[in-house]
Amino acid sequence: METARISTVFCKKRKDRSPCAQRVVRLAEPLLRTVLSGVRPFWARPLLFVKKWATVTTVNGTRAADLRIDISRLGQRLADLAAIGAIEGTEGCARLALTDEDQQGRDLVVTWMRDLGLELSIDGIGNVTAVMPSDGNAPPVMTGSHIDTVATGGRYDGNLGVLAGLEVIETVIAAGLELERPLAVSFFTDEEGARFPPDMLGSLVYVGGMGIEQALEIEGFDGARVGDELARIGYAGSAPLPGRVPHAFVELHVEQGPVLEVEGVTVGAVEGVQGISWQEVTLTGQSNHAGTTPMHLRKDPGFVAASCAAYVRELALKLGKPQVATVGRVEFRPNLVNVVPATATFTVDLRNTDERVLAEAEQAFHDFAIKAAADEGCSISFESLARFEPVSFDESLVSMVESVASELGHGVKRMPSGAGHDAQMLARVCPTAMIFTPSVNGLSHNPAEYTAPDDLEAGANVLLHTMLRLAKEGSPHD
Ligand code: GLV
Ligand code: MN
Ligand code: MN
Repeated sequence: METARISTVFCKKRKDRSPCAQRVVRLAEPLLRTVLSGVRPFWARPLLFVKKWATVTTVNGTRAADLRIDISRLGQRLADLAAIGAIEGTEGCARLALTDEDQQGRDLVVTWMRDLGLELSIDGIGNVTAVMPSDGNAPPVMTGSHIDTVATGGRYDGNLGVLAGLEVIETVIAAGLELERPLAVSFFTDEEGARFPPDMLGSLVYVGGMGIEQALEIEGFDGARVGDELARIGYAGSAPLPGRVPHAFVELHVEQGPVLEVEGVTVGAVEGVQGISWQEVTLTGQSNHAGTTPMHLRKDPGFVAASCAAYVRELALKLGKPQVATVGRVEFRPNLVNVVPATATFTVDLRNTDERVLAEAEQAFHDFAIKAAADEGCSISFESLARFEPVSFDESLVSMVESVASELGHGVKRMPSGAGHDAQMLARVCPTAMIFTPSVNGLSHNPAEYTAPDDLEAGANVLLHTMLRLAKEGSPHD
């Protein structure tokens, strides 16, 4: 700025001022010039350590402790983002990672980030981070999630975490609060893994769990390559990888399951994420005529795939809760009504909070599938698409989420996460926790996914005050 504009501010009507007013302006001018000439707005001044939080007030004179997010602004942004890739006749949306719809969603969120004056960086896997400008070197308190969706996605999965993070930052900026640490919000590439396995790809690369060269070579279920698609949509950035380690990471997400709703609790303080195993199995048999080939002479990979799907369900029931097992994707070739298939390819998703039981489930499935294929005269191959061990979040941060929720008057329950989340990757490098809000009918990965505005507001306010607590304290362990 702006020397010209500063001069205008001070010089205009100077001669109209009283001598006393002129003296005040003369004294204040150098200070204001220093602040304004930094091109930064007032909230970007060096961040100060705030000692007595309870006594801190916002620019409007309300206590910082009474600060709240604006739910109508958050709701509007959720609706605007959901309009991109909207699934007709539903509230849901389809923005598979690195598609044109993903690009349009990214562009919109980036515009909102820039409008708030945040400093943006985009890394080589397309993760976008927006941070409040600060003169210090303190690592930020980070929040975030993802804006890619499955093909039958809801409008809250991931999107809530990103837009609530933006809302928290806008609330803090509007309040003029000074914090010891800046706040940051990120959206990570391809959390869903629905186009490019594994899931949480962007956050995995961010924390150094996979090299960028390997990630760019990943081939999607549709045959596209990550590197090509990133370049095509203009999100192959240059920010360093692995990414900057934040002071702490807190992610707000819808529960995507029924527990909070059934128990009538508003907030989940997430203790960890269960382990995930994704495999792709390919069976090859003998394609033949469906009418002329006697049953005992068939080599039918479709039959083996169906037996495997039935087996993993029985296996999960036998191992008991929390083991879950899903065959979510099956492809027969040539996929015709009157032809015994030549090949069958299917995916198996196994999850458990106990690594030992998860490994047991993988082994049992492997043994069963090999025998079933051999009995039918088919060949079989396995490819691991994703394998993440169970993760426990930082105990003091989980307790902090719990106390913030209680202090804000919400019922809160400690619980594990059944779904995978970017937070489980960030937990590798910094103290991490998650906040859940209820999902109506426990539905997610379904366009009917819904969370009531009151619950969204409660979750976002818990995020706000957890982040404020972390940003004004030296460490989450203080
Ligand atoms: C991601 O949403 C997963 O849990 O599959
Ligand atoms: Mn998600
Ligand atoms: Mn999801």
